[in-house]
Amino acid sequence: MKIPHFIHVKEVGPRDGLQNEKQFISTDKKIEWINLLSSSGLSYIEVTSFVHQKWIPALADAMEVAKGIKRKEGVTYAALVPNRIGLERALEADMDEVSIFMSATETHNLKNINKSIDETFPILDEVIKDAIASGKKVRGYVSTVFGCPYEGAVPIERVKRIADRLFSMGIYELSLGDTIGIANPVQMNQVLMELLKSLPPTSIALHLHDTRGMSLANTLVGLSNGISTFDSSCGGLGGCPYAKGASGNIASEDFIYMLDAMGCETEIDFEKLLRASRYIQSLFSKSLPSHQLGLNVKGG
Ligand code: HMG
Ligand code: MG
Repeated sequence: MKIPHFIHVKEVGPRDGLQNEKQFISTDKKIEWINLLSSSGLSYIEVTSFVHQKWIPALADAMEVAKGIKRKEGVTYAALVPNRIGLERALEADMDEVSIFMSATETHNLKNINKSIDETFPILDEVIKDAIASGKKVRGYVSTVFGCPYEGAVPIERVKRIADRLFSMGIYELSLGDTIGIANPVQMNQVLMELLKSLPPTSIALHLHDTRGMSLANTLVGLSNGISTFDSSCGGLGGCPYAKGASGNIASEDFIYMLDAMGCETEIDFEKLLRASRYIQSLFSKSLPSHQLGLNVKGG
């Protein structure tokens, strides 16, 4: 099986993982968790989002968290921004880079960011240009690529149009969101083969929620198509408040375990990552979805 050797894992737990949780994790504890993640060898951590706290109260302390973490050399600290106000806050927090986001479907886009798809483009265009002018790289997300909780199936042509438009605005990478964890491996293969006709695999990342337990299988299809960048969430935390039923992202430790076992390189220390997962689990009064946390021992 031909798959890339070096895999870039982008940790989204502190943002995607926490945004859907009812329990507010205190600023100090968020910072301690992110510092543990930094020490695990991860090279990219999405630490928070600069959205409206009325909509995402779990991340109301975004500025304090972003300013309070210990920055480790070689780690990119990123944040999600929906608009100009979000970008200004991210610049004030001195984030290394920012991520913009939108959906492939009108209904999810409207519920998530209160705009139609056409209204979203000029807002993101301005954010991307201003971020680049301020010396920041911009990553893009497109949600509901593989299915929408409101509109069902999503035509691939629509995803291609959005991808082309966001790349022409200046993003360096597009993360394809399986927001409700509905993709199956055959569909994943079809979508990737279509997108990879015009985009290099190095420009695409996969952001897979594990709602139906299919994220590892879909990841493997991504790898076999040459994709080498994946988002994951420590402990398997995660979900979108505007996509009913959406649960956690693929758990970072489950994914790293699989990559290690297959001989891929990530430069992430599995045991240190597991320590960060145990820490965040201890703060919630529930077990997190990660298989490795359940096993508690490597290979056990
Ligand atoms: P809006 O109400 O349309 O914004 O919300 P507005 O521009 O009309 O402004 C209304 C008020 O919000 C104003 O304040 C603004 O200043 C303020 P007021 O004058 O009323 O006092 N405001 C802000 N405050 C703080 N930060 C900002 C900001 N912008 C405006 N950035 C908005 C639009 C996008 C802000 C809102 O809908 C929002 O915050 N939505 C949250 C969306 C979100 O975080 N969703 C989850 C993340 S996306 C996701 O999870 C999917 C992903 O993981 C991929 C996948 O899984 O598929 C990425
Ligand atoms: Mg997500």
